[in-house]
Amino acid sequence: MLLSFPLHIVLSLVLGAILTTAHTVQTISAVGSKFFYENGTQFFMKGIAYQLTPHDPLIDTEQCTRDVTLMSELGVNAIRVYHVDPSADHRGCMDALADAGIYLFVDLDTFETQIEQGDPHWNETQFARFQAVLDEFQEFPNTAAVFVGNEVLTTKEGSAAAPYVLAAARDIKVYRDMKEYRKIPVGYSAADIAELRPMLQNYFACFEDSYERLDFFALNAYEWCGASSYTISGYNILQKNASGYPIPIFFSETGCNTVPPRTFEDQTAIFGEEMSDTWSGSIVYEWIEETNDYGLVSYGPPTDKGVLTIDLIEDGFTRKGTPTPVSPDFYNLQSQWATLSPTGVALSEYIKSTDAITLPQCPVPSIGWSVDPNSSLPTLGQTYTPSIPTETAGKGAPTNQAPNSKSTSGISHHDLDSVSVAGIASIDPLVLMSVLLCSLVGFTAFWL
Ligand SMILES: *[C@@H]1O[C@H](CO)[C@@H](O)[C@H](O)[C@H]1NC(C)=O
Ligand SMILES: *[C@@H]1O[C@H](CO)[C@@H](O)[C@H](O)[C@H]1NC(C)=O
Ligand SMILES: *[C@@H]1O[C@H](CO)[C@@H](O)[C@H](O)[C@H]1NC(C)=O
Ligand SMILES: *[C@@H]1O[C@H](CO)[C@@H](O)[C@H](O)[C@H]1NC(C)=O
Repeated sequence: MLLSFPLHIVLSLVLGAILTTAHTVQTISAVGSKFFYENGTQFFMKGIAYQLTPHDPLIDTEQCTRDVTLMSELGVNAIRVYHVDPSADHRGCMDALADAGIYLFVDLDTFETQIEQGDPHWNETQFARFQAVLDEFQEFPNTAAVFVGNEVLTTKEGSAAAPYVLAAARDIKVYRDMKEYRKIPVGYSAADIAELRPMLQNYFACFEDSYERLDFFALNAYEWCGASSYTISGYNILQKNASGYPIPIFFSETGCNTVPPRTFEDQTAIFGEEMSDTWSGSIVYEWIEETNDYGLVSYGPPTDKGVLTIDLIEDGFTRKGTPTPVSPDFYNLQSQWATLSPTGVALSEYIKSTDAITLPQCPVPSIGWSVDPNSSLPTLGQTYTPSIPTETAGKGAPTNQAPNSKSTSGISHHDLDSVSVAGIASIDPLVLMSVLLCSLVGFTAFWL
């Protein structure tokens, strides 16, 4: 007995170490306008949107494991999940994904807590829900990033909601750092509205205070349909508007299906010479075949909703079981991705040029863009009240956020009583860079 007890401990330690090692996966971080693995190699996502079940597809380990196997065959290294239940156990699915080198991009909101274009507000209930998802997923090294919103703004009249999205990002970033979580990038997934996109994109990245900028911007774009081209599709405009952008940008949804079968030729542009220096890859919509007909795999033919079965059925589509590739779309995407592997730039090289990154000008109010970049972001609990424009409107508005001013301490986070950012907001970027470099050197040394 006396001997077997320590042996038992030793065994479990060894076993624990083996298990831990098995799930070791490098984290992803955003530096400048790019994502990097810990080893300094640039990360380009080949992703798919994965929402088998409306509330949480990451709790059925057996199902995740079956899907992950086929995802690996497809060449996937990232998934996007729109809705999760933060109180559920995600360990099994996250480990299955990690073992396959697959990263998670997860939305923080629910249908009840998403920021609304029609009634812009950002309150405690929403913030608490966003926190709960971050609390749950920050522990997994393969959580790549989080979204504070998906297509909140869908019309050019909706721009008043933009500051509320940015306020949510600010509060989540402050919360993340206060909790000393790793710097999981916080971003937004935008609808592709031509008359809104350039302004929105720049607004989210224009403020001097890094807490008032997104860590990345992503676009749901379905501009390239069938045998199109870089210029015909309009990707050249996307590229033009994104070149020089200071934070990572990528396609958080793509894969137009109006010209079947889908050939995914846009991937050659995204991962090719024209765009790969600016864009970090794409997430193809979507994994499961359902009514909208975007699926890459199917779990069986559509079923009568009334049919009794052990399989999970929703909207007449089975959402569980053995995934079968939808042909030829699945194979078309697989062949595209197989040939596309941009090397990008090594972090050690890239870091030398990040000093030269400049922020875009905050868009000035115009027709279709009503946001005054000089007014403070909404505070937690604030609700949008449309103001009647007058000659003096905005005169009394706080002007502590002059775009691109070199203010170092002008921004206060006075509204976040519960969280303190003292000392965080004022970290010099140079200091951050050296810390990063040191960690990189340390990491390399660790391997040698
Ligand atoms: C860094 O890690 C990635 C992902 O595992 C791998 O593809 C890449 O080859 C590694 N780079 C170096 C320089 O070892
Ligand atoms: C916050 O807004 C949501 C709707 O988005 C509402 O359901 C909730 O009651 C609000 N919470 C507070 C504290 O006002
Ligand atoms: C975006 O690109 C279009 C087309 O080239 C151009 O007209 C527009 O000014 C650009 N907007 C921004 C903010 O870069
Ligand atoms: C914002 O404030 C600055 C400095 O006061 C001013 O130059 C600029 O015109 C203002 N921008 C807008 C859009 O009002």
